[in-house]
Amino acid sequence: MSKTALITGVTGQDGTYLARRLLALGYRVYGMVRRASLPNTARIDSLLARAQTGEIPFTLLSGDMTDSGGLHRILEIAEPDEVYNLAAQSHVRVSFDTPEYTADVDGLGPLRILDAIRTLGLTEKTRFYQASTSELFGKVCQTPQSETTPFHPRSPYASAKLFAYWTVINYREAYGMFASNGILFNHESPLRGETFITRKITRAAAQIKLGLIEKVAVGNLDAYRDWGHAADYVEGMRLILNAEKADDFVLATGETHSVRELTETAFRLAGFDLVWKGTGSDEKGIDRVGGKVLVEIDPTFFRPTEVDLLCGDATKARERLGWEPKHSFRDIVEEMFQADLAALS
Ligand code: NAP
Ligand code: GDD
Repeated sequence: MSKTALITGVTGQDGTYLARRLLALGYRVYGMVRRASLPNTARIDSLLARAQTGEIPFTLLSGDMTDSGGLHRILEIAEPDEVYNLAAQSHVRVSFDTPEYTADVDGLGPLRILDAIRTLGLTEKTRFYQASTSELFGKVCQTPQSETTPFHPRSPYASAKLFAYWTVINYREAYGMFASNGILFNHESPLRGETFITRKITRAAAQIKLGLIEKVAVGNLDAYRDWGHAADYVEGMRLILNAEKADDFVLATGETHSVRELTETAFRLAGFDLVWKGTGSDEKGIDRVGGKVLVEIDPTFFRPTEVDLLCGDATKARERLGWEPKHSFRDIVEEMFQADLAALS
């Protein structure tokens, strides 16, 4: 018997990779989409076209993380074996501008779904995955970070996700629900949103190479992240929900790289050898050969509180789930740069 999954956030980066993966494995997939004034399904349009011809069992349902009644209705229709809660206001910088909204969507949203599962009597049937995040570690007190590392959130986004993290554990302990957290470190792909730093940089490198723009403005060059590939991480989500028992898992590569190194790597692929001159907000990335300024600092991209260094330890996921990331940092940047170059050419 094929399983049924419900994916919230199906129009996002991870939702798209996960929907592809589950459909390839024979799942019936429901995806929740929110109303937008212009179509917001670009990433999943090819899946929708295949669904229209009956080739794959993929159905969209309208809903919003802030609307309990709608979430209840969707769960009643889908009666899923597995819920992957990926919907979120997922931009950390934006969460400082929209703290209450972020708390509503990212914090209360998962609670609404968990409680709908409970009140609909789906507790025995439906497994719940929560998209938790390495942002929970925030101002880190140890490196690498694992499931036992204390949390110290540094943004409204991380605080909201912390509420959701503990809500998942509470529903597991209080009602015996199969509810698990995936504590995922940053993961990227050509489908990454254009305002996250990896995609912003690979896109800018391609645009500069093609002569479409002259330079790019960024914020903190000296933050470190553990960047993996979204395709590897959605497979980890599936393994987490198909484990013997509900539990919480870190997914990470165990490698950390700075925004500066990311920028140098992407620009090298575009044929530029960056040298850095100046300090603080006056620092600039200059093409060694042409002498042009290609990267500059715009303090508006700084965050009121920053997460300086993330580097994960995914030993538990490797030992208990057999999960291992397959893509290297260099390969991810190259795949993203080449995809941007092809799309813009
Ligand atoms: P993303 O590309 O920004 O996608 C977010 C999804 O949530 C989109 O489908 C978006 O819909 C939907 N959404 C936002 N607000 C909503 C609302 N009020 N109601 C219903 N849907 C809403 O994010 P992602 O990178 O795929 O990440 C997926 C999840 O993993 C998020 O929860 C994120 O916080 C978490 N996470 C991500 C990473 C990472 O590095 N990517 C790491 C750890 C955790 P629209 O398309 O209409 O905007
Ligand atoms: N977005 C952005 N734009 N970030 C910049 C910029 C810029 O111009 N310049 C420097 N940065 C730095 C940020 O300050 C941060 O330290 C780092 O680049 C990564 O920023 P993002 O790519 O926006 O990702 P994030 O780490 O804040 O959050 C992502 O990963 C989390 C997991 O750790 C998001 O996907 C979150 O949803 C996810 O939970």
